[in-house]
Amino acid sequence: VAPTIAAPARRRVPFGGAIQAEHFDVDPEYRKAFLTYCDLIMPMNELKFDLLRPSPDVFSFEPADRIVDFALSHGKGSRGHCFLWWGGTPDWVKAITDPKRLEAVLIEHIETVADHYAGRLTSWDVVNEVIANDPPQEGALRDTHWLRVLGPRHIPLAFLTAAKADPKARLVINDYDLEYVGPRCDARRATMLAMVRQLKDAGVPVHAVGMQGHLYADLQIDHDAIAAFGAALKAIDVGLIVSELDIIDWHIEGGPAEQDAAAGKAVNALLDAVFAGQQPEAVIAWGLTDRYSWVGGAMPRPDGTPVRPLPLDEHYRRKAWFGPLLDRL
Ligand code: XIL
Repeated sequence: VAPTIAAPARRRVPFGGAIQAEHFDVDPEYRKAFLTYCDLIMPMNELKFDLLRPSPDVFSFEPADRIVDFALSHGKGSRGHCFLWWGGTPDWVKAITDPKRLEAVLIEHIETVADHYAGRLTSWDVVNEVIANDPPQEGALRDTHWLRVLGPRHIPLAFLTAAKADPKARLVINDYDLEYVGPRCDARRATMLAMVRQLKDAGVPVHAVGMQGHLYADLQIDHDAIAAFGAALKAIDVGLIVSELDIIDWHIEGGPAEQDAAAGKAVNALLDAVFAGQQPEAVIAWGLTDRYSWVGGAMPRPDGTPVRPLPLDEHYRRKAWFGPLLDRL
């Protein structure tokens, strides 16, 4: 039986939150909220390649260590995000165009980081967002530095290296826009499924898919496709995690009440669909409070009013949809 990703949870399915060191340090209410609601507390950005390793010889483990220690010392689980991501690739890595050298960097990075956290981070997003944003055909991968220099083999290489460095870790492939109705998400789901099958057939250890769950509240969740996707993964013994849940409400008109109603509907529809395929290994919110979220910066509301992406509002009050979400885990 595969290990679960969290310390023994109060819930059947652990509920998690991604936390940011810069707020953790100055806002005690923020820390308290994670302790109150989460079974699993994970660093949001601190383990990304560029922040962790700003130059070849510097591993700045300290900010992530503080978060992981905080989680574990309070009896919570934690997990790692992420070894390889197009968005977190530092310039010094992008300057390496020799495949042999880049391969050596990939292996050294994963070995060092996995080893540092072995036994503390029980699960890792090994590769993040490797599927083409808008796949022109099924199977298309995103154009990243890793792909350009090493080809698709960097994906199995990353998983095999992680498995060797931390044989007990649960290894996850994480991606976005796997949630909605339409040909683009159909292609992204098919690509993910084909890739996971291919990796498994080749003996590469992939234990779960992370479905990010950055939910556009105005798009329709594809219940049947998600249920079929989860069931197909289950059939090959691969788990499913809702890994970065939040709600993008930029096209929801009205005000806070309408935004929250739309968010609750979206979250509910996603969980219905996920549970119809298989019981998820965890549901993790990408932050916890509207006080701090990437959504307001990346996808602001056209009318300039605040976004409301997360389970707690900016004053740490629970949204009406948060209780029902926890109740089903
Ligand atoms: C985002 C963080 O939330 C921001 O704080 C940071 O500035 C940029 O990255 N998909 C992912 C996450 O896999 O790593 C991203 O996180 C959001 C989209």
